[in-house]
Parts: sequence; C-alpha cells; structure tokens
Amino acid sequence: MTEYKIHIVFGTVHGNAERSAYAVEEELTEQGYEVEVYEDALDLPLGELSKNDALLVVISTTGEGELPDTIVPLYTKLNETMPSLEDLSYGIIALGDSSYPHFCRAGVLFDDLMQQLQAQVVLPMHKIDAAEHFDAEPEACSWSKLWVEQLVSL
Ligand SMILES: Cc1cc2nc3c(=O)[nH]c(=O)nc-3n(C[C@H](O)[C@H](O)[C@H](O)COP(=O)(O)O)c2cc1C
Repeated sequence: MTEYKIHIVFGTVHGNAERSAYAVEEELTEQGYEVEVYEDALDLPLGELSKNDALLVVISTTGEGELPDTIVPLYTKLNETMPSLEDLSYGIIALGDSSYPHFCRAGVLFDDLMQQLQAQVVLPMHKIDAAEHFDAEPEACSWSKLWVEQLVSL
C-alpha cells in the first residue's frame, strides 16, 4: 500500500475553508497519515510532488462566483505554467451557498484546471452548501475520510 503524504491548500475569505482545512488535517493526522496544511498556498512544493503525494484543495467561492484571494496566486501560477500533474492524486472540498447564482464556482474552476493538468481525481468534488450546513467542518472531515479510504485503495 502506498504511504501518501497529504498536502492541503485552502482558499478562504471569511475563514470557513481555512478552519475546515485544519479540521481535516487533524482528522487525517489522527488516522495516521502524514498531512501538511500550507498557510500560503504557494508554499506547496509543486516541483517535488510524486505518486506518493496527494493534494486536497479546500476552497470557498466569493463575490460573483470568484476565487478567494488566498488561492489566486497558486491558481494563476498553475494556469500560466501548466505543469503536468499526472502523478498527483487530488480532491476538492468546495464551500459555497446555493442561494448564490454561481454555486461553488471556485471549486469548479480549480477542478477544471486540475483536470487540464491531468491530475488524478480520487473522488468527485464534494460541495458543502452553507444553506444546508451551518458548520462546514464536520462535513469536510467526514468526506475527507471517504476520500482517503478511496485514495489508499487505488
Ligand atoms: C459576499 C459573498 C459572496 C459569495 N458568493 C458566493 C458565490 O458566488 N457562490 C457560492 O457558492 N457561494 C458564495 N458565497 C458563500 C460562501 O462561499 C460561503 O459562505 C463559504 O462558506 C464561505 O467560506 P469562507 O469563510 O472560507 O470564505 C458568498 C459569500 C459571501 C459573503
């Protein structure tokens, strides 16, 4: 079985995605995985990622369906340099609110970019609707357990 290192980046405006990212880190660390959250998404060691790495992106949507500022530098770098990420497994936890017209659009944009970079999706993007879940963290944690189970079974 592959021993994965799980890298987590987040895009947040008001802190929900950041709190969820750290809650997921705690959950997966307790389960025995090596996990690192990058406070600055640009610290993700892109050039060093291999088959033993997996990336979780925890991302909210802001404005009129826009990416939060904290994740824009990483998104832009990936979009401009278009590295091949074919060895990298990933997952996306998208926070949004279905009462807005562009529900979870930032998550969708990031997912599209990861697909273009040929990264391997472990499970389809998980959308967490603030209209249903007042607190995103428990929902993010329970999905991350499913995601990691699927990851290690690949
Ligand atoms: C000003 C504003 C604009 C928002 N725009 C969207 C949107 O276009 N689509 C969406 O799905 N959610 C939208 N949301 C909902 C947020 O994505 C949701 O509340 C999320 O939990 C915020 O996470 P954060 O605290 O990490 O920023 C918006 C929220 C605010 C306050």
